[in-house]
Amino acid sequence: MKIFIDSADTEEIKKLVDLKVIDGITTNPTLASKTGKKYPTLVKEIFEIMPEDSIINLEVIDTNYEGILSQARLLSSLDDRVVVKIPCTPEGLKACKTLSSEGIRVNITLVFSSMQALLVAKAGAYFVSPFVGRLDDISEDGVGVVEDMVQIYDNYDFKTQILFASVRSVEHIRQACLIGVDVITSPYQFIMEMYNHPLTDKGLKQFLDDWKNSGEVFITK
Ligand code: E4P
Repeated sequence: MKIFIDSADTEEIKKLVDLKVIDGITTNPTLASKTGKKYPTLVKEIFEIMPEDSIINLEVIDTNYEGILSQARLLSSLDDRVVVKIPCTPEGLKACKTLSSEGIRVNITLVFSSMQALLVAKAGAYFVSPFVGRLDDISEDGVGVVEDMVQIYDNYDFKTQILFASVRSVEHIRQACLIGVDVITSPYQFIMEMYNHPLTDKGLKQFLDDWKNSGEVFITK
């Protein structure tokens, strides 16, 4: 089970890399545009920050078959860690089939139904990214859609990995793990919240206070 950060903020990415908690990163054009950095500069910085064995998801912005192929091949040639994100459209899935047969790893993004996910698997994608939070935003059952995907992929032994995206809370991450997804991608704040429990803070304070009050000295060499 992998944890990715869903961000283009290099300070956030650095902090989680430093904590050795993330296996990869997802970005999208919206996240990239919010940084105010030139895209080539941002991508270069991400390549420098991310560990050697991580996964870096970068998205195409073209929407027709030939354009997607050309941008995907370019992104993939930049670094071995790149997985190319392509939107879930007929042209995108056609491009996915072609790129996958060339050995280029594809993440089909903007997926909102299990039937889209079936086509994604048949197109040979490496990842499928259901946007759970955006389904919840319109009062649909995002987690339920992912449960269907897991069942369908299990029924037919599809190899495409399910990447639970558009996370809105730690509770989403917990549900994703119970369903058995392969990857979750989360904003920085929810990964940090996963560490928290008031009893950890309370317990640590008590340990340190008791130690201090005992006057004990720690072992030395
Ligand atoms: C995933 O790859 C997407 O970047 C992301 O999860 C979208 O989430 P949002 O709905 O919070 O924009």
